[in-house]
Amino acid sequence: MQRASEPQAPGESTPLHVLDARQFARQWLEDTLFPAARTLQQTPVGALPQSLVGKRLFYLFYEPSTRTRVSFETAVTLLGGQVMGMDSHEQQSRDERLEDRIQVLNQFPYDFILLRYHEEGGARRAADVSRVPIINAGDGTSQHPTQALLDAYTIWRELGRIDGLQVALVGDLSYERTTNSLAYLLGRFRDLTLYLVSPELLRMRDEVRDYLVASGVEVREVPDLREVASSLDVVYVTRAHTERLEHARRFDRQSRSYAVDAPLLAELPTHAIVLHPLPRGRELPADLDADPRIACFRQAGNGLYLRMALLSLLADRPS
Ligand code: CP
Repeated sequence: MQRASEPQAPGESTPLHVLDARQFARQWLEDTLFPAARTLQQTPVGALPQSLVGKRLFYLFYEPSTRTRVSFETAVTLLGGQVMGMDSHEQQSRDERLEDRIQVLNQFPYDFILLRYHEEGGARRAADVSRVPIINAGDGTSQHPTQALLDAYTIWRELGRIDGLQVALVGDLSYERTTNSLAYLLGRFRDLTLYLVSPELLRMRDEVRDYLVASGVEVREVPDLREVASSLDVVYVTRAHTERLEHARRFDRQSRSYAVDAPLLAELPTHAIVLHPLPRGRELPADLDADPRIACFRQAGNGLYLRMALLSLLADRPS
């Protein structure tokens, strides 16, 4: 898996760890990863290749998860591998150092460590002491690179391309790791327009915005999703009713929309899709789910096959 600009093990063309959405190049996504995921998705469960026989994944989760953990566990199991792990949600001050836990796990015969950490930089810290590949399953408010991969795969599958699309990222764009990672990944594509729809206090971080601009993405900040709905191909909406977002909204001079509702769907083109990393809140009401443009459950389902493909390619990495 060359195609990565960072972080890579010295002298290798395949990245050892999956830490950051910026490490993936579009050619690898479009020529290798996405087609592999699509092939797996078209294969009956009983005929799936047993590409992970003899491989073991350990999950270490400091925050709860439904989709990421279950899809990785299912992916490994369906491809013939084994899964073990532990939750460490307590995060007490007397909790063992992350680096120590990772070094202990390195003493055991695991092939992947899937880590969700509650603070930014956790995955990088783990990778710095690990010879076993670390897969970042979300590190605090920083990144969630495999979510970005499945989001981009969903766009590619549903719309047939990523270049040239008009995409809105909606909600808390300062502290939402899924939008950080997706923005970084979209920076790999051409002729994109990215509308950033967030309260003033929760604007996209400068480092992410600067990366997009330097990558040639046209970035437009708009205060209200309704202003741009009719020109969008993709709406990526995140939880809007968090305490942070409600607080930020109080500072806005007027009421803004960070939600999808029936009037917004009426404005949205018929080919457009609405994505959400889930779990959702009132920003994407369940009574809209019958609209085929609401793609969040297809998106979550795609995560299984994308992660199967990713693990298979990582397992093939020359040692
Ligand atoms: N989208 C996502 O990361 O969901 P989980 O928190 O359930 O893994």
